Amino acid sequence: MYKQVMDTVKFLEKKVNNRPKIAIILGSGLANMVDFIEDKIEIEYKDIPNFPVSTVAGHDGKLVFGKIGNVEVVAMKGRFHFYEGYDMKKVTYPIYVMKQFGIEKVIVSNAAGGSNDTFVPGTLMLITDHINAFGTNPLIGPNDDRFGPRFPDMTEVYKIYLRDLAKEVADDIGIEYREGIYLGNTGPTYETGAEVRAFTRMGADAVGMSTVPETTIANYLGMDVLGISCITNMATGIAKKAHSHADVVEVAKKAGDNFCNWVVNIVKKIG
Ligand code: HPA
Repeated sequence: MYKQVMDTVKFLEKKVNNRPKIAIILGSGLANMVDFIEDKIEIEYKDIPNFPVSTVAGHDGKLVFGKIGNVEVVAMKGRFHFYEGYDMKKVTYPIYVMKQFGIEKVIVSNAAGGSNDTFVPGTLMLITDHINAFGTNPLIGPNDDRFGPRFPDMTEVYKIYLRDLAKEVADDIGIEYREGIYLGNTGPTYETGAEVRAFTRMGADAVGMSTVPETTIANYLGMDVLGISCITNMATGIAKKAHSHADVVEVAKKAGDNFCNWVVNIVKKIG
C-alpha cells in the first residue's frame, strides 16, 4: 500500500500548489463548510489515482483545497463508510495520503445520534474519546513500520490541546457545545433500542457509523485529531419516532451554520 499512497501523493502534488497542514473531514449534511474555503481547487475522488469513490446520498466525493483566512486547508467533502462495502484499508486510505502529503492536524466531523438523553438534536459535541464497536480494526494485518507502530497507543486520540483551543473559540464566539464519547458501529442499520441502552451503559454519548476508523489511523500515523459530532437525532429508544437519513441530513444542515462558524474560527486560531 505504501507505493499506492505515494503515487496518490505525487498526483496531488502535481495538481495543486497548496501544502496545507490541516485537513477537515466533513460528515453528512456538513458539506456546506466548503463554502467558507476560498481560492478553491476541487478534485473529484474519481479522478484521484487509487482513491475509492463514495456512493451514499448526501455525500459528494471530492477533495477541496483552499484557504480559510490565511490558513491553507484541505477538506474531504464526502468520506468512505465501512457499510458501503469498502474494506477498512479503503475507508482509511485518504488519511494515509494526507499524512504523506504533509497534513499534521485533522478535524473530523460526523452526524450522530444522541444516546446521552440530555442532548437535543442540533447539539454540537466535542469528542473526548471513542469506543470502537465496529468489531474490527483498520490496522488488522501486517504492519508497515514506515507508517507507524505495530501497537499504537490510544491514550489521547482526540488531543487535549485541540479540545482546549476549540473550547476557547466556542466561548469567544458564543457557540454552545457539549463534550462526550462517540461510539462508532458499522451501520447501515440504525441501532436497536437495546443496543443504544447497552452503548449508553458503556459510556457512549453519541452513536454513529464513521470517524473511528479514520481517527484510529490518524493517531497511528502521528497526526493530531479534533472531533466534532453534530447530534442530528436522539438515538433509537430515546427518539420518539423512527429515523430517516433525510431528517439526519436536514438537522445537520440546520446545525451547520454553528458548526461552520466554529470550525472556521478553530482553523484560524490554529493558524
Ligand atoms: N445512529 C447511527 N448513526 C447516525 C445516527 C444514529 O442515530 N444519526 C446520524 N448518524
